[in-house]
Amino acid sequence: MSTSSTSPTPRPVNLLHKVGLIEQPWSPRVVAQMNDYQFKVVRIEGEFIWHSHPETDEAFIVLEGTLRIDLPQGPVYVAPGELYVVPRGVQHRTAAEGEAKLMMIEPEGVLNTGQEGGERTALNDVWI
Ligand code: NI
Repeated sequence: MSTSSTSPTPRPVNLLHKVGLIEQPWSPRVVAQMNDYQFKVVRIEGEFIWHSHPETDEAFIVLEGTLRIDLPQGPVYVAPGELYVVPRGVQHRTAAEGEAKLMMIEPEGVLNTGQEGGERTALNDVWI
C-alpha cells in the first residue's frame, strides 16, 4: 500500500477492527502514516525483551487490556484510553497478562527490538 498518496482515504481507520485482523501476537502492523511517522497496531501477550531506541521516542496507546511497560525504575501500567511515551534511549520491556491491544506511534523504520535485534524482531513496514 502506498504511504505517500495525496488522495484522501474514503473512510476512517477502525483501530480495534484492524488489530483484530492480526493473526500473531508481537506482530506490529501499520494502519496509517503521517509525514514520516507510522501508526501501528499490535496484539501482545506475555513479555517482550528489554531493548531501547537510541534514535527515537516511542508512544503507546492502549486499546484493550492492560499494558505493562517495564522501565529501569519499575513498571508503568497503561489502561485503555491511556497513553505513555517512552523517551529515546530508555531501556523498556512491554508485557501483558492475558492479551492487550495497542497502538504505537513512531517514525517509519523503527524496529520493535530496537538495538537488540534477534529472533523477536518483527517484519517492518507491513500494512494491514
Ligand atoms: Ni520499544
